[in-house]
Amino acid sequence: MENFIYRNPTKLIFGKGQIEKLAGEIQPYGSRILIVYGGGSIKRNGIYDRVLEELKKINAEVFELSGVEPNPRISTVRKGVGICREQRIDFILAIGGGSTIDCSKAIAVGAVTDADMWDVVTKKEKPAGALPFGTILTLAATGSEMNSGSVITNWETNEKHGWGSPYTYPKFSILDPVHTFSVPRDQTIYGLVDMMSHVLEHYFHHEENTPIQDRWCEGILLTLIDVGPKLLADPENYAYRSTAMLGGTLALNNMLNLGYRGDWATHNLEHAVSAVHDIPHGGGLAILFPNWMRHVLDENNVHRFKQLAVRVFDVDTIGKSDKVVALEGIDKLREFWNELGAPSSLTDYDIDESTLEEMAEKTVVANPTFGNYRALTKKDSLEIFKESL
Ligand code: NZQ
Ligand code: ZN
Repeated sequence: MENFIYRNPTKLIFGKGQIEKLAGEIQPYGSRILIVYGGGSIKRNGIYDRVLEELKKINAEVFELSGVEPNPRISTVRKGVGICREQRIDFILAIGGGSTIDCSKAIAVGAVTDADMWDVVTKKEKPAGALPFGTILTLAATGSEMNSGSVITNWETNEKHGWGSPYTYPKFSILDPVHTFSVPRDQTIYGLVDMMSHVLEHYFHHEENTPIQDRWCEGILLTLIDVGPKLLADPENYAYRSTAMLGGTLALNNMLNLGYRGDWATHNLEHAVSAVHDIPHGGGLAILFPNWMRHVLDENNVHRFKQLAVRVFDVDTIGKSDKVVALEGIDKLREFWNELGAPSSLTDYDIDESTLEEMAEKTVVANPTFGNYRALTKKDSLEIFKESL
């Protein structure tokens, strides 16, 4: 295990009815509040009205930015930055899933940074700080509610990049599983795939002696494999929704990877697909992850694939080579996601050969190679995309 320092400043407020804490949490930061949300789900499920009721308690002056897109756009970030500057906003409240939260992180930095936010997202400029912000999470998936990362899309240049900063941890995040009861079936599936993918991205590393971290990862995967189908069959079950919600947060609040660095090639591949085709992140991961696994598996790295197959997918080893065990584990992951109803081929999103080269090029815009478990090149990206058709 490598040396590490772990600090996560986000206050997690979890459970039924916890929205009643909202006014008290915001009050110290001021009264001019920008609420940021997506296409209107929070109006349909009552969360919007409940937030306004809470904000009345502190006589907040409320400003709004609505219409944050899934795969949030830099154009929407710029709109939000404009509101913050013109209206001298004190605090930003993101209400939604990863897209709304990621957009709010970029707005928070853009409001106090002279540079254009696209230059910050593409790491040409450094953030100078951020307005304080908090979140009310309505979809279990990304972990953005308790990390400092953000993923923003530029639809003019068809680029989608992740970025982060020490300033972009939410001050608090309110996680009420009841808020996720209304998440549609497909988004619930994408969320489960996304959080499992985060655990898997962590899991593939070369650091020796990470037994506690391995068991954390395996425990979360086993739990999600158990709860996922039950949740889809009973979407308003509080216990199942709360398990998924906690799973999503723990999968990417950077505790699982204490003392080592995971792989993250599949996320880079997926962001390239979404940048060109605007597909849901979790849907893209479901297609790509098993194919990344098959592509990189070799005799030097087979041990972690084998461990995953045995401990998580219950593959028996008798009379089988390590590679056969590993491949059976990958097949079981694919089968599980298929059973949930996740997509398994790029053609499920009408993606054909014509854009594979363009997508492969995007995987190496930032660096000529990517992925820490096995370094990949553009050629690998192209092969994985072809294998995903
Ligand atoms: O926009 P509204 O109307 O709110 O509808 C949303 C949206 O259409 C809907 N939804 C959310 N909560 C709901 C609900 N519908 C009914 N009831 C509710 N309670 O769900 C749809 C998808 O929302 P979105 O926020 O896009 O989903 P998700 O949380 O999966 O976020 C995806 C984005 O996060 C990025 C992805 O790349 C993608 O851009 N990621 C961010 C990460 C991070 N910051 O750490 C890590 C991830 O790996 C990921 O890359
Ligand atoms: Zn993800």
